[in-house]
Amino acid sequence: MQDTILITGGAGFIGSNFILQLLGRGSSSIINLDKLTYAGNLRNLQTVTREPRYEFVHGDIADRALVRDLFERRQPRAVVHFAAESHVDRSIRGPDDFLRTNVDGTFALLEEARAYWAELPEPDKSNFRFLHVSTDEVYGSLGPTDPAFSETTAYAPNSPYAASKAASDHFVRAYHHTYGLPAVTTNCSNNYGRFQFPEKLIPLMILNARDGKPLPVYGDGQNVRDWLYVEDHCEAIAAVLARGKSGETYNIGGCNEQRNIDIVQTICDIVDEVAGRAAAPRRSLITFVKDRPGHDRRYAMNASKIQRELGWHPRETFVSGLRKTVRWYLENEDWVRDVTSGAYRDWIATHYAP
Ligand code: NAD
Ligand code: DAU
Repeated sequence: MQDTILITGGAGFIGSNFILQLLGRGSSSIINLDKLTYAGNLRNLQTVTREPRYEFVHGDIADRALVRDLFERRQPRAVVHFAAESHVDRSIRGPDDFLRTNVDGTFALLEEARAYWAELPEPDKSNFRFLHVSTDEVYGSLGPTDPAFSETTAYAPNSPYAASKAASDHFVRAYHHTYGLPAVTTNCSNNYGRFQFPEKLIPLMILNARDGKPLPVYGDGQNVRDWLYVEDHCEAIAAVLARGKSGETYNIGGCNEQRNIDIVQTICDIVDEVAGRAAAPRRSLITFVKDRPGHDRRYAMNASKIQRELGWHPRETFVSGLRKTVRWYLENEDWVRDVTSGAYRDWIATHYAP
């Protein structure tokens, strides 16, 4: 069997970082199946467009004929499934696409993967992997002194986004349990780094701080997230793909809990330093706005299983990762201009309307 990996959603934030890392380090060939929603951007992958080991296919994971054709034509040894609607605020304003892609789309992909896998000869059949990329949000919200989420924490999704990811996790689990599909699921905490669409906290704050615009902090700004540099997440996924045990789930996190307000203040200070002081320190742009409905208070991941069993550890510190990220957004004006055009402006105008 050829060393080919089918990646879904590879034009998005984490998927494109994963593809660049994999092509840079390994010898695998990659098929990137992406619908190119507002969050997908081929500019992220322009350095590998001519790479013979890389093929881009524009399409929907829910298009079963297309997915079937890809399996038959390219005979992948694994699927790494990133494709999703990923923004919590959008899921609150309009959950339909979240059901369509995250639940129906994952189901379609699982069905086609199962049909393909069932016909594989050994040892390809046992070696096949369906790696489902999921989130810590499926576990719900923690109180200030609760222990971090572990792989055995009960699911308690609170937003339509989290509910759709939880549903997809359950389907993956069921396909392993019922049909024996060699599946693994990763549940990761908040990522940050280059190529993240600036609807999410960190890039939104960097660009607004650069432009002297208000920095909208939801509620009291005391919500806590566990932040992980995107390249560390990609390395964790590669470790699970290489050595993860079929049927297992692995929690991934940075062991790096931060309050939103602290992150926004730090971003202001870094932008002041890198872009030069504006008339007033950028911290003065911080504006507390109406809270996100159902806003989860705290996430924290216990990543001891992947550390112990697969030897993965995050490399980047939050201080250095955040500085790199701020610099990247300030230095990549073309990328920023590309993604902050019409549809982006409409989202910002609607979502942050007073
Ligand atoms: P993203 O929104 O940046 O990218 C999603 C990609 O999926 C885009 O390229 C989009 O075009 C593509 N896509 C959407 N619907 C599709 C469809 N129907 N068919 C094919 N492609 C489709 O998302 P991200 O932040 O890179 O997240 C990737 C995955 O990781 C998601 O499954 C998400 O739930 C999970 N995750 C994200 C984070 C995070 O902090 N961003 C943390 C943990 C887990
Ligand atoms: O935890 C993993 C999840 O992290 C992923 O599964 C999701 O795909 C990803 O979007 C992210 O979800 P969050 O809701 O945690 O990320 P977001 O960047 O949207 O928000 C981070 C925190 O910042 C959250 O507490 C809400 C707050 N926030 C966000 C925005 C966009 C603000 O205060 N103001 C804002 O304008």
